[in-house]
Amino acid sequence: MTLVDHGQTRTRPRTLLVTGGAGFIGANFVYYWCETYPGDRVVVLDALTYAGNRQTLAPLEEKANLRFVQGDICDRAVVSALLEEEAIDTVAHFAAESHVDRSILGPDAFVRTNVNGTFTLVEAFRQYWNACNQPTHFRFHHVSTDEVYGSLGADDPAFSETTPYAPNSPYSASKAGSDHLVRAYYHTYGLPTLITNCSNNYGPYHFPEKLIPLMCINILMGKPLPVYGDGQNIRDWLYVGDHCSALDAVIHRGTPGETYNIGGNNEVKNIDLVHMLCALMDELAPELPVRPSNKLITFVKDRAGHDRRYAINATKITSELGWQPAQTIESGLRHTVSWFLTNCEWWQPLLSDEYQAYYAQVYTNA
Ligand code: NAD
Ligand code: DAU
Repeated sequence: MTLVDHGQTRTRPRTLLVTGGAGFIGANFVYYWCETYPGDRVVVLDALTYAGNRQTLAPLEEKANLRFVQGDICDRAVVSALLEEEAIDTVAHFAAESHVDRSILGPDAFVRTNVNGTFTLVEAFRQYWNACNQPTHFRFHHVSTDEVYGSLGADDPAFSETTPYAPNSPYSASKAGSDHLVRAYYHTYGLPTLITNCSNNYGPYHFPEKLIPLMCINILMGKPLPVYGDGQNIRDWLYVGDHCSALDAVIHRGTPGETYNIGGNNEVKNIDLVHMLCALMDELAPELPVRPSNKLITFVKDRAGHDRRYAINATKITSELGWQPAQTIESGLRHTVSWFLTNCEWWQPLLSDEYQAYYAQVYTNA
């Protein structure tokens, strides 16, 4: 069978294991993949931690060639059985503890899932790849973050694939450890691995405690908008759909053993981003308890070890794989704000007692 993908020839349908597919980026990726490659089979493995939500995938589970398995990537027996039973050829590994603030409160889960979990998964995949006689089309794609490179000064060049690792939080240190393991599996065993390091994502299905959804939801509720420190920290924002198309490009056309940085060329100071969100909410929300909503902005105690600036140099993926983001920060934010306004039934149940307890821990006395 010959399938055409982005001007390239695909030689076969794929069977993917998507870890963390009930989380923010993983779920967006599952939607993207099922719509783009309806002939492929997608198996989601997700432990459904506080950040995982099976409801997100419910519309797809009814119609796509999709199987959902609740399970832990640290559970070797579950992982190995799934690889064999489903004849997986491609792993897209999103599962992680992903929130820096939670890693400051409790780093244990980050080391367990991000380091031990990635080790369990990549080792199980190696054994299975060996048992299958090392097919060359198999891929292990490890989804990582720009945070492994540490913090930039105002005039430093953006992170490239050769920037030395300098992680500053338990989260980024655990992701750095997982990157090194995956890299080692290519160099030692020849396992066909790929690594991507991406900047801050935003878009539909973003868990409420992260900056952009938190601000949208607090504006709707008339609650303070907590900006850490002086609000001058810079992040390089990428619409999640553009991250998914970048992962597609790397899975299909990336060279095993290589790393690709992914970013949107959208460096924005936190305080400017919050003002953009306030202006969009003032324009798009029919009713708000406080208008203009920027009256709610409140500067609070800074995050411990808060990285000052992230910026991605995406020249490699752009020039070698022909990937380009489709959204600007303006179009992506407008779409995202509209999505949160029209999908209250998705995020309202997530404001649970656990969420309120977390919120109180981070923001009380902040
Ligand atoms: P998320 O926190 O929204 O989702 C993580 C998912 O992993 C959840 O569904 C959770 O249930 C699942 N999970 C957690 N521990 C697990 C375990 N032990 N076994 C199985 N499943 C488990 O995270 P996200 O924002 O979607 O990030 C996905 C990946 O992308 C992460 O690896 C993260 O490091 C990376 N990343 C995120 C961003 C971003 O801006 N959010 C940017 C770059 C890279
Ligand atoms: O850079 C990629 C990373 O982006 C990913 O690897 C992480 O998984 C993802 O969570 C994200 O990390 P950040 O720490 O950058 O995202 P967060 O949304 O938590 O915060 C974005 C910025 O906003 C950061 O500078 C901290 C600040 N912030 C955040 C919150 C939640 C605030 O000022 N106030 C807040 O209430």
